[in-house]
Amino acid sequence: MSRKLIAVIPGDGIGPEVIAQATRLLERLVDQRKLPLDLWQLDLGADRYLKDGTTFPKEVADRIRNEASAVLLGALGDPRVPKLEHARDILFGLRFGFDLYANIRPVKALSDRLVPLKNKTKKDVDFVVFRENTEGIYVGMGGQFKHGTPDEIAINEDVNTRKGVERLIRAGFEHARRHGKKTVHMADKSNAMAHAHELWHRAFFEIAKDYPGIEPKHVYVDALCLYLIQDPKPFEVVVTCNLFGDIVTDLGAALQGGLGIASSANVHVADPTRVGMFEPVHGSAPPLAGKDLANPIASFLTVGMMLTHLGFPEEEPRIEAACAKALDEAQCTKDVGGSLGTRAAADYVLSQL
Ligand SMILES: NC(=O)c1ccc[n+]([C@@H]2O[C@H](COP(=O)([O-])OP(=O)(O)OC[C@H]3O[C@@H](n4cnc5c(N)ncnc54)[C@H](O)[C@@H]3O)[C@@H](O)[C@H]2O)c1
Repeated sequence: MSRKLIAVIPGDGIGPEVIAQATRLLERLVDQRKLPLDLWQLDLGADRYLKDGTTFPKEVADRIRNEASAVLLGALGDPRVPKLEHARDILFGLRFGFDLYANIRPVKALSDRLVPLKNKTKKDVDFVVFRENTEGIYVGMGGQFKHGTPDEIAINEDVNTRKGVERLIRAGFEHARRHGKKTVHMADKSNAMAHAHELWHRAFFEIAKDYPGIEPKHVYVDALCLYLIQDPKPFEVVVTCNLFGDIVTDLGAALQGGLGIASSANVHVADPTRVGMFEPVHGSAPPLAGKDLANPIASFLTVGMMLTHLGFPEEEPRIEAACAKALDEAQCTKDVGGSLGTRAAADYVLSQL
């Protein structure tokens, strides 16, 4: 197999701390398992933006598009850049620029100890959310009028195209088919968002006809939040729009044991040869930065997803098992009930590989 280049963007806050550990994991796998990977560390983020105004240069985007197989991102967001210009350029430059329309976020509990629901165990928490990643209310269309006056108006447009909705829904069904799942739930708000979510609703049931044996189920997103807390077990695959996917997966992260252990992939499912972007679900957590408190497990599980995508599927279960052992034995950071620092928690996981 030819060598694969991974562009690494540590980013801001705890991003560089967790990505330093993810880099150690990758270097270990290159060494031990002879994975043909090369890492390309990029100096992009708030520090760089504050130094020389650079956010996401075209030549970097072009090299990623032409040469890289994946991007591994820490997190972006820094209180010194309150309008998040750099974060928007980098994140949206990757997600929108490379048309990475599926944000895939597994919600899988790895340790009974961390499942916060009464009388539930890790067997009850195992589903995946397919969040539309290139449209919706995140496209930035809209504007403000009479800013700062008593009459001010602020509008964000919610963009939903048939093509965008359909390809995301299909990605969810394809995943269900590949993994032997019996149901796909679609979460929307078609009762209130009569135009946009009528399209989601109609497209979902039309597309479902191409997947006999997989039951299409509809749920309003508010009810979904209720059901996930009462009993997440019936859920296997959830497809939803950009905004709802963002919110529901933070709830999902809580069911797993917290944002410190939630991973995600941003991919163009129909064309897996395109570069994909892989990032922990969490943000830059500025209050934790520099205190050796950041949990590296989300970034480890993210590396697992990335390696599966790159054609090394045997690595993800190994990484997952090592992380699960660390969590079961509380050899982990404080947010998940341990007492180790970031590097020491990573050391334990690496020692299990
Ligand atoms: N994709 C991204 O880069 C991304 C995603 C979400 C938020 N953000 C940005 O991050 C900044 C902070 O946002 P926020 O506070 O809403 O979300 P956050 O994910 O940074 O933090 C939310 C909570 O989770 C905890 N947490 C998160 N990651 C953790 C880890 N690895 N280990 C231990 N605890 C962890 C934090 O301490 C905090 O209590 C903002 O600027 C926001 O815009 C970026």
